[in-house]
Formats: sequence, structure tokens, C-alpha cells
Amino acid sequence: MQVVLSEAKIRERIKELGRQISAEYKKAGVERLYVVGILRGGFIFLADLVRELEIPVEIDFVWASSYGEGTKTSGTVKIARDLEGDIQGRDVLIVEDIVDTGLTMTKMLEHLQSKNPKSLSICSLLHKPAREIKKVPIRFLGFTIEDQFVVGYGLDYKNLYREYREIVILPPENR
Ligand code: PRP
Repeated sequence: MQVVLSEAKIRERIKELGRQISAEYKKAGVERLYVVGILRGGFIFLADLVRELEIPVEIDFVWASSYGEGTKTSGTVKIARDLEGDIQGRDVLIVEDIVDTGLTMTKMLEHLQSKNPKSLSICSLLHKPAREIKKVPIRFLGFTIEDQFVVGYGLDYKNLYREYREIVILPPENR
């Protein structure tokens, strides 16, 4: 499978993101960050990112799903499991593996904003602008990618390939 982003490249970019995020929040006087991971795809990125942050974090998850078993979004984003904690008045950073059509993140922003956080920002490892339906403000972005179906590093096809250390293109014959 063709590698789009190697393990080393991902690691290096996450270190940079960690430094940037820490610096910006510290500058804003934020002493503790409430990190919200979007399951399932975001769990590996979140695990690596939080270990590069230089401010204390609390970690929570929302389980969202729209792709089901296929390669195309169903268009309906379901929240299968909500946060455990209360984010009212907190500085919240959403951590996601990919913003593709933007439908998942739009739903997530509405959902989390309704809980009245002090601030709400997005960190996404990948952005695929070619398929954008809803524009979302990604404050911290790892990489912009072409319109190819990629898997690995948390991203799946039929819940497979998430454990790959790199991000690769899934050839049509594997779908
Ligand atoms: C994937 C990915 C994002 C979303 C992005 O999740 O993890 O959450 O799609 O796509 P969008 O911008 O077009 O909405 P998926 O619904 O496949 O569930 P998963 O995280 O369990 O893989």
C-alpha cells in the first residue's frame, strides 16, 4: 500500500503541534486543558498528542459515527456515547483524526458548544478539503491531504487498519 505519511513524519508533526498548542494556551493563561477525543478514529492521535503537550490535561471522549461500514459518509452523524465530564467553563480542545466532509465536526461543535465551554477549538491531524460540505474552523492542523481514501494511524475501513503506524492509501481492490 502506498504510504502517504510515514511514521516519522507523523511523529515529527505531532511534536510541533504539541509545542504550538502548549504555547498558545499558555500565552492565553490557560492552566489546564480539557481534551475531547472523537472515537473511534481519533484515539491513536490523541494518545500521541497529549504526551507532547506541556500543560496538564483532562481527557474525555465522545463516540461519533457516520461512516458505518463503507467509504462514504452516511450524512447522519450519531453520538453513540457522550462525554463523562462537565465542560461548562472549561477550555476544550477537540482532537480528531480527519475532517473530511466536515459533517462530523459540525455536529460535534454544535453539541459541545451547547454545554457552554469557556473556549472550544479543534485539532485535527488531517484535513481533506476536496470533499468539504461544511467548513469547520480547524485551529490546529497536522496535514492537508488529497482526495484519496486513507487508512492507518486510527483511520479505518470496516474497522480495520487502525493499528498501522503510517497513513496509507487503501487500494480499490481492498474495499
Ligand atoms: C471518521 C473520522 C471522523 C469522520 C470525518 O469517523 O474518524 O470522525 O469520519 O468525516 P467527515 O468530516 O466526513 O464527517 P467514522 O464515522 O468513520 O467513525 P470512526 O471514527 O469510528 O472510524
